[in-house]
Parts: sequence; C-alpha cells; structure tokens
Amino acid sequence: LFSYLIFLTLSYLIGSLPFSQWIALSKGCDLRKVGSGNVGATNVYRVLGLRYAVFAGLLDAMKGFLPVFSARFIFFPNSEIFAILVGFAAMFGHISSPFMNFKGGKGVATGAGAFLGLDPGALTVGFIVWFMTLKGTKIMSLASIFGASSVLIYEILIGSIYLKVVSLIAFLIILYRHRDNIKRLLRGEELRLK
Ligand code: G3P
Repeated sequence: LFSYLIFLTLSYLIGSLPFSQWIALSKGCDLRKVGSGNVGATNVYRVLGLRYAVFAGLLDAMKGFLPVFSARFIFFPNSEIFAILVGFAAMFGHISSPFMNFKGGKGVATGAGAFLGLDPGALTVGFIVWFMTLKGTKIMSLASIFGASSVLIYEILIGSIYLKVVSLIAFLIILYRHRDNIKRLLRGEELRLK
C-alpha cells in the first residue's frame, strides 16, 4: 500500500510542474497576466507563438502520460484502476499545483496524455475531433470541449465500464475548468487564435 501512495504522490507532483508558465516566465511573460490568464499551452501560443506552445503542450501531456504508462506497464501491471487513479493525480496536480498556490491550468493536455496511456484509440478519436474543431473555428476551448466529449462518446459506445466512468469524470472536470470560456462562448466573446 505504501508504494501505491508514494507513486500517487509522485504523479501528483509531476502533474503539478507548471511547464507552460515556466516556459513563459523564462521569456519574461507571466501567463496569468496575458490572454485568457490560463497557465496552459494555448496561452503560451498567444504570447510566444506556435513552437513554444507545442513544446509546452507536449511537456504538459507528458506529465499525464509518463506516470500512467509507467504505472500500467512497468511498476503496477494488471491494475487498471490504479493507472486510472495515477492519471487523475497528475491531472489534479496540473489543475491545483503547489508551485502556483494551488491554482493551475485546465487539465486538457495533461488529461489527454494520461488518457493516451489508458486508451490510445479513444485519445486518437479525441485528437482528430479536437484538431478539426480547432482548424474550423480557431477557438481552443471549443476544440478542447468537443475533443473531451468525443472521448466520452467513444467510451460510452465501446469502452470498459472503468473507461466510461473515467471519461465522464474527466469530461466533467474539463467542462468545469472551462466555465469562464463557456460563458464567453455563449456571449460570442471567446478569444480566437490567430
Ligand atoms: O486547454 C485550455 C484551452 O481549452 C483553453 O485555453 O487559454 O483559451 O482559456 P484558454
């Protein structure tokens, strides 16, 4: 039990490393004071452009993927439920980080990385829907919400009971974290990417 708790704590701490904010700070910008104010790759894009944003997004995704993958295939094989808990620990770390006074991002990149370790098929569908929405609308929040919904629908249709529950919880977390974005979307004032 002790090793499980240590691994969960480490996953939370890995998730909480605010890479996007650190990358922005290294270039002299504080993400909380620009664009949407969110400490995520989208806001890195707004201030530093595509290359830095992709780098930040990949690092944030790795924070979810590496803990889940290593739990599932190296340290605790045969325990899908534990890998799921690890994924949520990392996502929770990103959203509520001790390095940022327990504030953080919206959990999309880290959640996607974690999901890649749990069910690559679902994540591929989510990625395609995310990409097409982003290309069509240039609105990242909409792309994130549609991507997460498509993962949920995929799991409802063909996933195990665990993955149905996980994708539902992840979807609800992402909706809740996007509540300000949703208000802006409804008012027609959501930021569009250039
Ligand atoms: O992953 C966050 C994204 O969906 C929205 O980011 O900066 O537009 O609030 P932002």
